[in-house]
Amino acid sequence: MTVITFTVSVLCLLPPAVLARWSCVRACPPPCSCTQEKSCTVLCDRSSISELPKEFPCEASAINLDKNKLKFLSERAFGTLPSLKTLSLDHNNISFITPGAFKGLPNLVELRMAHNDYISYLHTRAFTGLKKLVRLDLSDCNLFNIPDRIFLEQTALKELLCFQNNFRRIPGAFRGMENLTHIYLERNRIEAVAYNSLLGLGSLKYLNLQENRINVIHDQSFQDLLRLENFYLNDNVLCDLPRHAFKGLVRLKMLNLGGNLLTNVSKTWFGDLVELEVLYLDRNQLVYIEEGTFENLTSLITLHLNSNNLTTLPFPVFQPVYFLGRLYLFRNPWECDCSLEWLKEWMESYKLVRDIPCASPSSVAGLDLSEVVFAKVNGTCVDPGELNLTTVSSEIASTTENRFNSLISKLLQQELREEMGNGTESLRNGTLPEDGQLSAGVGGRHAQARRSLLGFTVAWLIFGLIGRSDINHSLSCT
Ligand SMILES: *[C@@H]1O[C@H](CO)[C@@H](O)[C@H](O)[C@H]1NC(C)=O
Ligand SMILES: *[C@@H]1O[C@H](CO)[C@@H](O)[C@H](O)[C@H]1NC(C)=O
Ligand SMILES: *[C@@H]1O[C@H](CO)[C@@H](O)[C@H](O)[C@H]1NC(C)=O
Ligand SMILES: *[C@@H]1O[C@H](CO)[C@@H](O)[C@H](O)[C@H]1NC(C)=O
Ligand SMILES: *[C@@H]1O[C@H](CO)[C@@H](O)[C@H](O)[C@H]1NC(C)=O
Ligand SMILES: *[C@@H]1O[C@H](CO)[C@@H](O)[C@H](O)[C@H]1NC(C)=O
Ligand SMILES: *[C@@H]1O[C@H](CO)[C@@H](O)[C@H](O)[C@H]1NC(C)=O
Ligand SMILES: *[C@@H]1O[C@H](CO)[C@@H](O)[C@H](O)[C@H]1NC(C)=O
Ligand SMILES: *[C@@H]1O[C@H](CO)[C@@H](O)[C@H](O)[C@H]1NC(C)=O
Ligand SMILES: *[C@@H]1O[C@H](CO)[C@@H](O)[C@H](O)[C@H]1NC(C)=O
Repeated sequence: MTVITFTVSVLCLLPPAVLARWSCVRACPPPCSCTQEKSCTVLCDRSSISELPKEFPCEASAINLDKNKLKFLSERAFGTLPSLKTLSLDHNNISFITPGAFKGLPNLVELRMAHNDYISYLHTRAFTGLKKLVRLDLSDCNLFNIPDRIFLEQTALKELLCFQNNFRRIPGAFRGMENLTHIYLERNRIEAVAYNSLLGLGSLKYLNLQENRINVIHDQSFQDLLRLENFYLNDNVLCDLPRHAFKGLVRLKMLNLGGNLLTNVSKTWFGDLVELEVLYLDRNQLVYIEEGTFENLTSLITLHLNSNNLTTLPFPVFQPVYFLGRLYLFRNPWECDCSLEWLKEWMESYKLVRDIPCASPSSVAGLDLSEVVFAKVNGTCVDPGELNLTTVSSEIASTTENRFNSLISKLLQQELREEMGNGTESLRNGTLPEDGQLSAGVGGRHAQARRSLLGFTVAWLIFGLIGRSDINHSLSCT
């Protein structure tokens, strides 16, 4: 095996334009005589280097060794370079960092080691001496964990990039790093966020946990993240969240919960998010959104609810409407009956919503809500019917049931009228049609829908009162 030794030095006296493109060729310039001249940049990327040059220019402020074949970093691998601010070792084949490898780089601010496929382990003292480090990139390596005390000296660290590794939990090393502002942990194998995983991260503004396997989030896991602004939890396997998951996150601007397995949205989740501008709940299995869920989202601009299992969206869910720049509702099995009439009107008035394809009733299936014409009888909306050519005869058989439904409808209608007061002209004389006056079954369906909505709400209330007392303060999917 031939060991190629470079005499790598550069005259820091050379004009910056020349130095900017200094490359690691065998014929190197004469040794650098340390001067007080401006610092220089060493560009040694894509040079097929498999061993580090013996010496770097003493005044180098940046060294780029990307896309070489480095395998190993020995102790003090770079010598003493007091001016070095940036060191980039991306896309090499480093598998081991000797403790103390970066000693002698006391002013290094940024260390990039991304895409070194064979780093699966780091020694506690791997980063010893890097007291000014602000940004560390370890993404796309092969790390399974890092030692708890590895960042003891890195008190200035702000950005930690660790995406695309093999972490199964949030490394304990992050705990208490009060100066961290950005954590990138996307595309790992994290399964849970424990109550203490993110303690003491009071400066954190950006947290990316997307594309992991998170199925449990313990209650109050995020309670210290009081400055968090952007939070990615999308593309995990969450089927529920703790009642007060995001309590205290008053600075949050963007929350992405898309691509999970959520079915119900609880109004306790977003109560504190008064600065939230963008909320993603797309690509879940939502069937139910509790009334009041969005009531405190006074800054909301965009809401993504597309690609869920929603059939209806009761008007009170959007009360009060502070909102909104855009509302995305496509790819849901909408039931375009009278309960969505408000939405159609809203679409027409504000033009903030588009694409609400109807899945039912069958007479309007395939149409967009904007194309559905709601029939009125004495000013009262009448649900579009199911297409059923045999209903006329069947109607007679079910007269008793229809009478019952009709009674319920009238009761509900009266309630509605009382609620609306005298202000709504169209409802003054509004009653639901008698049986047989319209295409059969329609009144019944209407009542049924209302009845089930009523039942649903009651069921939810009971659920809300007794069902959610999480003794365990954590939730897990089964
Ligand atoms: C990278 O390092 C690993 C382990 O040290 C080795 O098996 C592999 O052959 C190396 N790849 C290249 C391209 O040198
Ligand atoms: C955060 O930064 C301040 C000032 O730079 C420093 O005094 C403090 O020790 C740092 N905190 C941690 C936990 O490193
Ligand atoms: C909205 O904010 C008020 C005042 O802070 C609070 O009392 C209420 O519970 C919040 N609503 C929800 C749904 O959390
Ligand atoms: C949502 O719809 C999908 C596809 O239709 C179905 O597989 C899933 O069970 C539904 N989920 C819920 C909670 O209704
Ligand atoms: C039509 O209505 C009858 C009687 O209610 C019912 O038995 C039948 O299944 C309905 N057909 C369709 C296609 O909905
Ligand atoms: C409704 O009208 C009746 C009779 O005109 C009146 O006595 C009543 O106060 C009105 N109610 C409301 C809520 O305006
Ligand atoms: C409501 O019905 C009363 C009589 O029942 C009638 O005098 C009144 O004009 C009706 N109002 C409307 C808006 O249809
Ligand atoms: C509509 O209102 C008129 C006048 O009050 C009444 O005669 C009629 O029966 C009502 N129609 C229906 C379907 O309720
Ligand atoms: C969702 O809500 C429905 C009705 O309120 C309830 O039956 C169901 O158990 C809830 N699902 C979850 C996962 O909380
Ligand atoms: C909490 O959950 C764990 C795992 O699901 C279970 O073993 C334990 O018994 C629960 N504790 C309580 C107090 O419910």
